[in-house]
Amino acid sequence: MTKPKVFITRRIPDAGLNLILEECDVDLWDKDLPPTKEELFQHVPGVDGILSLLSDPIDDEVIQAAGENLRVISNYAVGYNNIDIQAATQHGIAVGNTPGVLTEATADFAFALMMSAGRRIVEAERHVRAGHWKTWGPSILLGCDFAGATLGIIGFGRIGKAMARRATGFGMRILVYDPTSQPMTGVIKVDFDTLLRESDLISLHTPLTPETRHLINGEAFAKMKSNAVLVNTARGEIVDQAALYDALKNHKIFAAGIDVTDPEPLPMDSTLLELDNLIICPHIASASTSTRENMALIAAQNLLAGLRGERLPFVVNPEIYEK
Ligand code: DGY
Repeated sequence: MTKPKVFITRRIPDAGLNLILEECDVDLWDKDLPPTKEELFQHVPGVDGILSLLSDPIDDEVIQAAGENLRVISNYAVGYNNIDIQAATQHGIAVGNTPGVLTEATADFAFALMMSAGRRIVEAERHVRAGHWKTWGPSILLGCDFAGATLGIIGFGRIGKAMARRATGFGMRILVYDPTSQPMTGVIKVDFDTLLRESDLISLHTPLTPETRHLINGEAFAKMKSNAVLVNTARGEIVDQAALYDALKNHKIFAAGIDVTDPEPLPMDSTLLELDNLIICPHIASASTSTRENMALIAAQNLLAGLRGERLPFVVNPEIYEK
């Protein structure tokens, strides 16, 4: 029997890759950098399935180029804003993602970024290496407090809730803005402006949608406290980066930590790189060894289920099964 043809846009951990290699005829893009759009066009025609990364734009053109055999796109990420879901659904193609397994690793990282930005850990480390550490001083590298602070969580899905669990241990007051999700014990649901006005720490955990693009803009920064620390481990486009630069440069807020930028990677001439009160990481919030293995397993299971004509364990467009 002929094996289904799949294109995998980057080497994923063996835990998932080996499952796929056993059952499929695999075209593996085994380079460090993602395939360009042109290269995607060259590799997708005739495939039954695509395993993509968040850096691969799987839009209508790519879906059309793949042709009528394509029945599943498995994204190695919980976010799927790189895929044209509407186009996939119109063509009856199931799209899978990897929720759940990266919740704790991402919340750990968001919390670490929040504390690092608030306590100026990266700046302090640079201070030492640059030879500026001359003595102990009462006012050297002062930061903010976490115990008893007010944390505002924007987007209260799995990762937002994991953030709240961590904040509880620090005795924080927890405010949540999320029009769709249920609150949990110990958190206060508020409107957007109240969250901006009252939070000392603000962490973003909402997906990128047309509604959340530039949700944090100049107007939002103007409502924040001057001691606020902003953390973004969701998607870069949720924050207007020109407004972020202005807010940090002019000390409208205290500091920020971002794991995601717009675009990615951040160009080396970005003015954000000039700021001492900003920590920038290269989209690594889910980057723990076991999390990335579990993401590979789920991505493989989604892909294989779609190829067998079964419902994906984690499907983002379940409406295709209603047709
Ligand atoms: C995701 O899964 O969407 C993260 O951004 C990367 O793990």
